[in-house]
Amino acid sequence: MTPAAIALDSERIRELFDLRRNPLGGVFEGNPYPAWHRLRESGPLHEGTAGRLIGFQGPETFFGLPEPERPHFSAFDFATCDEIVRNPDVFRMSPPDPDPEKARFLESSMLTMDGERHRRYRTLVQPSFGPDRMPWWTKNWIRPTVDALIDSFEANGRADLNVEFCAAIPTLTICGSFGISVDDALDIRAAVTNAGQGEGVGRLAEVLRPIIEARRAEPQDDLISVLVRAEITDDQGDTQVLSDPDILAFSWLLLAAGSGTTWKQMGITLVAMLECPEWIEAVRKDASVLNAVVEEAARWEATDPTFGRYAHQDVTLCGVDIPKGAVVHPCYGAANRDPGRWERPDEFDPGRSPRTNLAFGRGAHVCMGKNLARTEIATAVTALIERLPDLRLDSSAEPPRIIGLYERGATAVPVVWG
Ligand code: HEM
Repeated sequence: MTPAAIALDSERIRELFDLRRNPLGGVFEGNPYPAWHRLRESGPLHEGTAGRLIGFQGPETFFGLPEPERPHFSAFDFATCDEIVRNPDVFRMSPPDPDPEKARFLESSMLTMDGERHRRYRTLVQPSFGPDRMPWWTKNWIRPTVDALIDSFEANGRADLNVEFCAAIPTLTICGSFGISVDDALDIRAAVTNAGQGEGVGRLAEVLRPIIEARRAEPQDDLISVLVRAEITDDQGDTQVLSDPDILAFSWLLLAAGSGTTWKQMGITLVAMLECPEWIEAVRKDASVLNAVVEEAARWEATDPTFGRYAHQDVTLCGVDIPKGAVVHPCYGAANRDPGRWERPDEFDPGRSPRTNLAFGRGAHVCMGKNLARTEIATAVTALIERLPDLRLDSSAEPPRIIGLYERGATAVPVVWG
């Protein structure tokens, strides 16, 4: 991808990404944290979903939701959330009794696999997301995209970074690594979100099949070539290359996870920094401060504040009986503000001593793209600070708010510079 090649349809980006028009995971404009604190104070685990327990009555969509026929439980402290995700014998990614229609999908996606099968599939692509591969991502896709986007608005003196910048970077990065052109990138984003269900699978296959064929004939230095060459060993010990349906299932997960999360976390990080400009100054003076800023923003406002697991046996947790088949939601957002683990947990303070938080999950299913996400955010923030002098919130615009329930992000990141 050359920087000059980036020309995205800004109205289409707004349609796909603007959280005010298209709220994801729950139309929720408030701040759930005070209510989650109150729940934690009365017990670490409660029957109900993280939304219903705080009075949210809108539709709930996310991992393990809505599933109205199952009982739901949610955990709000760090220790219980940690225990849930580190006990894969009891709490798993797919239900013990899947509905036959969903069973095929559950078997095909690494996110919903468990145990040895999950480990085998994850091992195929994990090396491409390790810390040592970050310069490869930065040089090939992230920095060219970031620079081209800044080129497109630098002369204007103002921008809404949330949509014009944050939304585009992860989509173009992950699509670039799949050999998908900038022209097709927004179609792919639409295909892998709910908005694109139905014809979404068809469109993804239509774009990817010729790329898969081309990489089989002539591999290149990109992620789709890694998938095309990957060999999987089955239970009988037989080894074979991934089938087309396997490659498409992998691609769906990586394209969806890669394009749907990081942009919101990037917007949240920028809002946190713009509201505490001493951290912009601190990074300008010493770039090594940036990692702590990115990590603290993820702790403070994780874009995915809950996930889900299915109980595979009757179990008692924190004195609460959970029946087999129930969905148990570790509320990572609430765990990240557990006052038993962090002092002044509601404050964004990158100066605090580092401690593991759950913004990227933990255990066998810990986010595979966590290094990539951190690198994208850090590269984007660095470039903005380097290239746009005196970057600050636009005081004439409506102040940004963080909204959403199961997927949180900024309403906008309106900035001026110069
Ligand atoms: C700031 C951005 C991101 C956040 C906050 C995030 C968060 C998460 C979380 C919390 C999980 C664990 C789910 C669980 O506990 O069940 C997860 C899993 C996953 N993430 Fe991310 N993610 C981000 C970016 C990315 C990116 C950029 C990619 C890839 C391009 C990615 C790929 C994945 C995959 C493949 C899994 C499933 C791993 C498995 O099942 O073994 N994520 N993510």
